[in-house]
Amino acid sequence: MANNEDQFKKVVSHAKEYGYIFGSSEIYDGLSAVYDYAQNGVELKNNIRDYWWRSMVHMHQNIVGIDAAILMHPTTWKASGHVDAFNDPLIDNKDSKKRYRADTLVEDYAEKLNIKAQKEIAKAKKRFGEAFDEEQFVTTNPRVVGYLTKKKDVLERLARSLDNEDLADVKSLIEELEIADPETGSRNWTDVRQFNLMFGTQLGASAESATKLYLRPETAQGIFVNFLNVQKTGRMKIPFGIAQTGKAFRNEIVARQFIFRMREFEQMEMQFFVRPGEEMKWYDYWKETRLNWHLSLGLGAENYRFHDHEKLAHYANAAADIEFNFPFGFKELEGIHSRTDFDLKAHEKYSGKKLQFFDPELNESYVPYVVETSIGLDRMFLAVLSHSLQEETLDDGSTRVVLKLPSVLAPVKAAVLPLVKKDGLQEIAQKIVDELAWDYNVSYDEKDAVGRRYRRQDAAGTPFCITVDHQTKEDNTVTIRDRDSMLQERIPISEIAGKIKELVSVRNWLS
Ligand code: GAP
Repeated sequence: MANNEDQFKKVVSHAKEYGYIFGSSEIYDGLSAVYDYAQNGVELKNNIRDYWWRSMVHMHQNIVGIDAAILMHPTTWKASGHVDAFNDPLIDNKDSKKRYRADTLVEDYAEKLNIKAQKEIAKAKKRFGEAFDEEQFVTTNPRVVGYLTKKKDVLERLARSLDNEDLADVKSLIEELEIADPETGSRNWTDVRQFNLMFGTQLGASAESATKLYLRPETAQGIFVNFLNVQKTGRMKIPFGIAQTGKAFRNEIVARQFIFRMREFEQMEMQFFVRPGEEMKWYDYWKETRLNWHLSLGLGAENYRFHDHEKLAHYANAAADIEFNFPFGFKELEGIHSRTDFDLKAHEKYSGKKLQFFDPELNESYVPYVVETSIGLDRMFLAVLSHSLQEETLDDGSTRVVLKLPSVLAPVKAAVLPLVKKDGLQEIAQKIVDELAWDYNVSYDEKDAVGRRYRRQDAAGTPFCITVDHQTKEDNTVTIRDRDSMLQERIPISEIAGKIKELVSVRNWLS
């Protein structure tokens, strides 16, 4: 499925057609990189959030949750470094009026060099067959050495210029490499400028007295400023964690790829507070634990990989991404960061309040170190949706579109279908719906022939179809059809709930 543009287009249109995602304010032609979750989308999103919350908060006795406000005291963002450093370097093309991230333009150039080198290697591999010594070839073939050395030099110079905040040199690099606007080919560039990604707003009625606020760009800071409140009121002992889910906002320069990079999105974050010096042990623990959470959903181990960061953010001493194989290739889905004591220390400094833990075992107070797990809910949604959308050719040669969502996450767990709209079958089906609705989100569907209804439910991702037919009237049994295998079995009405429970219970999936 990787790098499959067609598959990605299908995911986007399927998401709209089956009530998962709409563009925001579509009747006004939409708002760039802002999306609305529709009737099925909101259920899937809630289920993903719930699956995360239960595994992180309910299943860990030393992790509790909070729900902090989106608006925070503006000094928060000074302390966290976001006011000064949450920037991307941007560049405009004067002819096309298109805006780009300057660093991404250079990185894309470097990647092209890499692709050229890989092509040479692949060609040589084919030519030499068994006798091919890749290591020797990569270090001696002049073309490959040339491409890879240039790639390294370009990336190193970019990193140096950005570290030194030498934006003029970033522009010189773009000019020297003759990088053109990817859409128009023009090389008529403006200077490179830093652009802060935080959305600003105002608190207060009149322009003079208003205070400048920001919409939070990450949920983590709401946890840091509440660290001591939670520790004291929850009588938490280190190591312990605080989890939170909620909206975050970033004025991304280039937002594309549907809900992968949005301007308003949702994060699921957990900050784990540990003894200084023990952070690497917990960092490894959380890398493994989070990967296992992903694997529990059955989207295929081959679709995940770790990417350890070489260049670290100012607050981190180790960081890794869990990348997922999206239709446009492997990309970051979740980050695990060892954030040291950077944030708590900064908040101590700016607030003048101590944010320390008295460790009775060590008989001393210290500012804890923090290991963070941070996943985008919308990105997780896209991972699940894009992996689940499949087209199958059946034994009779016909095709079906099926959304094989993990049943624990499916928006609607079962659709109840009366075979025909007469003979009292509708009433029985409605009664089954009313009973199941106490525990599960279920739907009733009587329109069209039953075969078409099955296909509709397959495409919407409903794991079970329960059909009420004439035999139901005789012996109180129904057929239950499995979305993935399409197999049907006949069971008593009294066993439907148990059957659904077995296949959608969080317990069975997580454990
Ligand atoms: N508190 C740490 C933090 O915010 P991050 O790597 O900037 O780290 C964490 O973001 C996760 O949030 C990412 O792995 C991604 O899943 C999600 N995310 C970040 N920016 C996003 C955007 N513009 N749209 C959708 N999801 C985004």
